[in-house]
Amino acid sequence: MKVPFADLHLQYLSIKDEIDAAIAAVIKSSAFIRGPFVQKFEEEFAAAVGAAHCVSCANGTDSLYIAMHALGVKPGDEIITTAHSWISTSETITQAGGKVVFCDTDATTFTIDAAKLEEKVTSRTVGIIPVHLYGHPADMRAIMAIARKHGLWVIEDCAQAHLAEVDGQMVGSFGDAASYSFYPGKNLGAMGDAGAITCKDKSLADKMAMFARHGGLTKGEHRIEGINSRLDGLQAAILSVKLPRLAEWTAKRQEVAARYAAALGNVGGLELPETAPGRTHVYHLFVVKHERRDALAAHLNEHGVQTVINYPVALPFLAAYEHLGHHAEDFPNAFHNQSRILSIPIFPEMTEDQLAYVADTIRGFVA
Ligand SMILES: Cc1ncc(COP(=O)(O)O)c(C=O)c1O
Repeated sequence: MKVPFADLHLQYLSIKDEIDAAIAAVIKSSAFIRGPFVQKFEEEFAAAVGAAHCVSCANGTDSLYIAMHALGVKPGDEIITTAHSWISTSETITQAGGKVVFCDTDATTFTIDAAKLEEKVTSRTVGIIPVHLYGHPADMRAIMAIARKHGLWVIEDCAQAHLAEVDGQMVGSFGDAASYSFYPGKNLGAMGDAGAITCKDKSLADKMAMFARHGGLTKGEHRIEGINSRLDGLQAAILSVKLPRLAEWTAKRQEVAARYAAALGNVGGLELPETAPGRTHVYHLFVVKHERRDALAAHLNEHGVQTVINYPVALPFLAAYEHLGHHAEDFPNAFHNQSRILSIPIFPEMTEDQLAYVADTIRGFVA
């Protein structure tokens, strides 16, 4: 048997008629850039995540950059973020003119350790970017308390966590702004690059939209210099077809995760992902840990099971951040995890047989 890491084609086939019709409608009306399809998706997505405003843009990386720019990041401003994420989270801090300050992840959830956050705050700190990594929400209550105490803004990186919740409240609704990626493999994925920022404040939404659209909301009126970061009509129409299925697809991911937990709960040496109390995991990824991670990955791959490592080098230890001079002891949890984590297949269309095969193959390795 072969088990892919994800199966985007299968998802397409399940909604083929609607996707094909949506693409045809955009082509027929030539609404390729902005226009009614983009506006419709922005309204639908804001409603789906309980946000007052949604500003779409070209990708999730831009959504972080645009939000930071609109929040007024200046050279020398320090922004604290997690030590383990995709590099978009930290590279955009530098891109916006800020200084990256890493904080370790906690021992169990792979998200920023709220208990170590406050010691990173200095007189130059302006904001915090927690990441709801793998679909597990960061400790937003503790993070917001620290942010309020020190007058810091918070951008929630929700790229991997559409619809995840903390105490019944949707991620993205805690901070000043939330950034989303609709990269094809994300829980809500386009058929190309796409992203969005949501927020409560209308003036912040206007600033972000203006910056993303060459500095003006009306053609020919450029109030500031901006960038070109637009969601296109085709992606918006595709996302509008997929959005109503997101809750059902999320529930299926959670079912797969529960079955993995039942099948692999007693496998010696294998650590399964944990969910902190009060938080709802949406399982963008199902990340296990094992001391002999590389051998486990090789065994799975030899038996036709695709795996990925998200991410093999934690951010402070990447060559890109060598100049910061960090050591393993500075971020013990992220350092410990980077050599043990392994993402195994999880996708809504995964069959019982595929799941049982992955679980059996892992058991076979341990035996
Ligand atoms: C945590 C995180 N932040 C930001 C991004 C950036 O999104 P994009 O690839 O759409 O630019 C991604 C996705 O790749 C991500 O996983």
